[in-house]
Amino acid sequence: MYKIAVIPGDGTGPEVVAEGLKVLKAISEKFNFKYQLVHYDLSGERYLKTGEILPDPVLEELKKMDVIYLGAIGHPDVKPGILEKGILLRTRFELDQYINLRPVRLYPGVETPLKDKGPEDIDFIVVRENTEGAYLGAGGFHKKGTPDEIAVQEAIHTRKGVERCIRYAFQYCRKRNKKKKVTLCGKTNVLTYAFDLWERTFKEVAKEFEDIETDYAHVDAICMWMVKNPEWFDVIVTDNMFGDIITDLAAMIQGGLGIAAGGNINPEGVSMFEPMGGSAPKYTGKGVVSPLAAIAACQMMLENLGEEKAAKRVEEAIMKVVRIDVKSLTAGKMGYSTSGVGDLVVKYILGK
Ligand code: IPM
Ligand code: MN
Repeated sequence: MYKIAVIPGDGTGPEVVAEGLKVLKAISEKFNFKYQLVHYDLSGERYLKTGEILPDPVLEELKKMDVIYLGAIGHPDVKPGILEKGILLRTRFELDQYINLRPVRLYPGVETPLKDKGPEDIDFIVVRENTEGAYLGAGGFHKKGTPDEIAVQEAIHTRKGVERCIRYAFQYCRKRNKKKKVTLCGKTNVLTYAFDLWERTFKEVAKEFEDIETDYAHVDAICMWMVKNPEWFDVIVTDNMFGDIITDLAAMIQGGLGIAAGGNINPEGVSMFEPMGGSAPKYTGKGVVSPLAAIAACQMMLENLGEEKAAKRVEEAIMKVVRIDVKSLTAGKMGYSTSGVGDLVVKYILGK
């Protein structure tokens, strides 16, 4: 019996999570496993009503779950940073979800903005460090609001944090067993302390993995290569900030936020899975956004629970839907409603 925390969140989060849960129900019946859902109302809506963001007792409960399934956090009436730091980043940090895993795969039938690139060219994964760097929130203001104002925002990289992230990337690459290549993405030509640490650690860890080829790219260059030669990549490992930026670019080349999912992983603890898109306030309640990213997040969650066969089946169903049914992943252009797409995934899972 798996204990799954569900945080639908804001905007279109609840709509897409509902489809993910519909898929979860169907797949659990097909593969004979049981689970218990515990819903948590953590959202901008709740914050505006009660002032509560992420109460400590809830955080303690989350620590006892098997996994967490998240929709989207973000509200147009809440100042940027409050919910992001208070819910999403706090959970990542307190549960020590030190890996942010973002698969980038173009499925046949999905449109990519890259001319002359197809599914055989776009198949890699980004391993983003998820608990350190500029995201730690170290820094502050001095003389705020005056002409002499100073703002300091430090990026903190620890040997331990960098090493565990890099080792995870190599292990993942070995298990993935595709091109068997790990590319470090950094900025060794300017950030000569932080990425010196990353590069030295990368070279040391690489010695444990002689079967795996290594490569390096500066973050600016990788943005260029990802567009020009995405087929070069297999596993990309990078820090928190760069990982945030390059995975939005990567999501676009795999067909957009309607299909891109990610996992906040603590390999020794509780992980959290989410579609990459935000709360999309302008589409809320219209039933027009793609639930496939949330369903892909559910697929990653199943893998994490050890339900590999069920996960595979969900992926195959997603692949059928994008190949056969939906016209586009753009909101309002799918040819089906949000729940209609969820129904199609369920149909293929059941083998109809
Ligand atoms: C992401 C998001 C978050 C991040 C925001 C919402 C804090 O952009 O998951 O990539 O920057 O990590
Ligand atoms: Mn992001």
